[in-house]
This record gives sequence, structure tokens and C-alpha cells, in this order.
Amino acid sequence: MSKAKNPGAAVERARPIDRQKAHEIQAFSQVVRMPIALSENAARESVTNLNQVLADTITLRDLYKKHHWQVAGPTFYPLHLLFDKHYEEQNELVDAIAERIQSLGGISLAMAADVAETTIVPRPPKGREEVPVQISRLLHAHEIVLEEARSMARQAADSGDDGTNDLFVSDLIRTNEKQVWFVSEHIVDVPLVKAD
Ligand SMILES: [Fe+2]
Repeated sequence: MSKAKNPGAAVERARPIDRQKAHEIQAFSQVVRMPIALSENAARESVTNLNQVLADTITLRDLYKKHHWQVAGPTFYPLHLLFDKHYEEQNELVDAIAERIQSLGGISLAMAADVAETTIVPRPPKGREEVPVQISRLLHAHEIVLEEARSMARQAADSGDDGTNDLFVSDLIRTNEKQVWFVSEHIVDVPLVKAD
């Protein structure tokens, strides 16, 4: 029969070691070399571009959730649902962009304060706005993302980063163009009941 010589030591081993601190293992500005047969310059350029479009996509995603909650008026229900659908699709893009940055050896932006510092999408007021204004804000944000995504897609193709080019073209550009269509049709001024 053996007894634990020091029962206190066993309990200490079972304690979660919390409040640990250490230096970062990679600074935000650093891009590590990944074995993906891509030049460091190409990876670095793509990481910089992807972080910009990531900040703008997170902002556009959150603009959809804000409007999902705050929408008002006779089109409340369809817009409430549509805005949330687009939020979910933008959220998938956010994850795809962030994981592409990590695959290239970079560090993806993540926290709200860092996103706010980086995005070029104008900040909306905290209060509630009318539907046509909500939609105008969304369309402006989409156009910012589309403009930068097209030029970044060309840069990625020129530097040989086909994976990033494909993400821009197949995912970002196509999703944003389709969402623009669905949202913009709501501000076409057609009669609701009686033809002109
Ligand atoms: Fe909801």
C-alpha cells in the first residue's frame, strides 16, 4: 500500500496555470516564410491587401447586423431576413480572408479596435436611420470592397499568387456583386399598388 508522499503537490499539479504572459511569437508586421512555393514579396503584398479587405469586410458584415436589428417600416420583415442572410455570407468571407492571410504566413486583423483603425468604410451613427439611408450605406460599403478587390485580384495574379486571386474573384467579388443586386432593387422607385 503506497500513499502519496505529498498530497499537496498532487493538488498543485491539478491546478489550472492561468494568468500566464509571454512575448508575442510573431509581430503583426511580420510575414513568416511558408513552404508554398511563393516569393516572400508576393506573400507580403497579398497579406497587406488581404488585411485591408478584411477590415472592410468585417465592417460591412457588422453594418448588416446593425441594420438587421434597426430596420423599420413596411419592408421590415423581408429586409430583417435579407440583412441577416448577407451578414452570414459576409461572415464566411471574413473567415476565408483571415485564414488566407494565415496560410500566407501573415497575421490577420481580428479585434474591433484594430479593424476600426484600418477600415475605409465610413462610420455610421450609433442611432437608427431610414431604410433608404441604410441601403445607401450598404451599397457604398460594397462598392469600396469591390473596387479594392478588383485591383487586388489583378496584383495577386501579376505576382503569381493564384490562390489569393481566386479568393478575390470567386468569393469576394461574386458574393459582393450579388448582394448589391439584392439590396439595390429595394431602392428602385416603382409604384406599390397603382401603376403610373
Ligand atoms: Fe437576429
